[in-house]
Amino acid sequence: MSSAGEKLNLLISDSVLDGSFRKAVFSKPVEKTSTGPSRIDVRPVMLKGGVKLQVTRRVGAQEFHENVDTKEGVALMQRFAGVVFRDVHYGTSAEKWIARHSRKGKCTLTRGKSADRPPESNTSHNRNRKHLIPDGEPCPFLIATGIMSANGRVRAKHYAKFRQINRYVEFIHDILDRLPADDTINVVDFGCGKSYLTFATHHFFQNVCGRQVSITGLDRRQDVVETCNGIVRELGLENIHFTVGDIADFQSAGQVHLTISLHACDTATDDALAAAVAWGTDVILAVPCCQHELSTQLPKNHLPLFSGHGILHDKFSSLATDAIRAGLLECAGYETRVMEFIDMEHTAKNLLIRAIKRTGVDTATTGHGREQMQVFCQQFSIPPLRLQQKLEEYHLL
Ligand SMILES: C[S@@+](CC[C@H](N)C(=O)[O-])C[C@H]1O[C@@H](n2cnc3c(N)ncnc32)[C@H](O)[C@@H]1O
Repeated sequence: MSSAGEKLNLLISDSVLDGSFRKAVFSKPVEKTSTGPSRIDVRPVMLKGGVKLQVTRRVGAQEFHENVDTKEGVALMQRFAGVVFRDVHYGTSAEKWIARHSRKGKCTLTRGKSADRPPESNTSHNRNRKHLIPDGEPCPFLIATGIMSANGRVRAKHYAKFRQINRYVEFIHDILDRLPADDTINVVDFGCGKSYLTFATHHFFQNVCGRQVSITGLDRRQDVVETCNGIVRELGLENIHFTVGDIADFQSAGQVHLTISLHACDTATDDALAAAVAWGTDVILAVPCCQHELSTQLPKNHLPLFSGHGILHDKFSSLATDAIRAGLLECAGYETRVMEFIDMEHTAKNLLIRAIKRTGVDTATTGHGREQMQVFCQQFSIPPLRLQQKLEEYHLL
């Protein structure tokens, strides 16, 4: 091996060992085939078990990700350089190197210009502090949905959507330790619609966190389900599929660890919550949408001060319904928080109900919660709502 080749191998092993490695891009395959990768990117990611190297193989329009331990990653990169690919762009925290291999295998290694400085520290999958799914790195579902261009840059006009998606995955990030660490995480997304956030969930678990995930997206609209399954096929994604059906009738084949329901209409949210509790799902993330149940049942004059102000009546009904939902989830054994959800373009429905299954049931707390709810419902003449009816029907309260 030439001295430049040896120097490159040393650079690879030393930089991975001392933690200064940032990113490597291998391109110009030595042998071009339609089935082999045209490019491979490698970068460090911080996972639960420590630093791993994420290897992304691009084959045609598809990308395949794999996380390997650092030793295996070093051996892979040393083989990619020269044996599998002619060109290598290699970045450490301090400098950037470019290696080119001639047809005869001769290696030349040059230091990159300062303008080509490597990206800042990225050993955490939270490497871009604001974005768990970073701008600047090709992300297949964002490219397929037009949010990113093929080179990984977020298109300016889609930046708001990109930020929403990242804000959303932060909610998932916050509950990671409440989900199985080594087994497949089973997720059901009720009322998935066009499924930006369902694809984001899949990408985040699988490619950013290196976790095994299996996601079912359910929607009663056949057209959106067909579109989503088309994206799955186009990207060659595994362990994510979409199915047509009504939330109230859905039967899960196995244990569901995370149940998501974002902006499912009216009482569909209650059907989603009831199903999740019945399954004993570990975490529930629900953003209720339009609310008609209580609004139509409450007498318009239930609060004299609201008379003649329909909007206040509706807002009160929505808030009361969400407070009761949170209270019922507490009574059913979930630690529940209502938080502000991401700022969506077309909806003011912006409350996220996050419920995490308690490990032990604290009867004093649930008893107190139940009492508070009863007092509240009596005070405002609120009848038992759909979620309560369902939980009682399933003997879950
Ligand atoms: C406003 S979209 C939200 C889509 C997606 N979850 C999001 O937040 O971007 C609501 C979706 O829920 C679906 N949906 C509403 N009620 C449903 C039900 N009972 N069963 C299945 N899907 C339902 C609708 O068809 C629609 O696609």
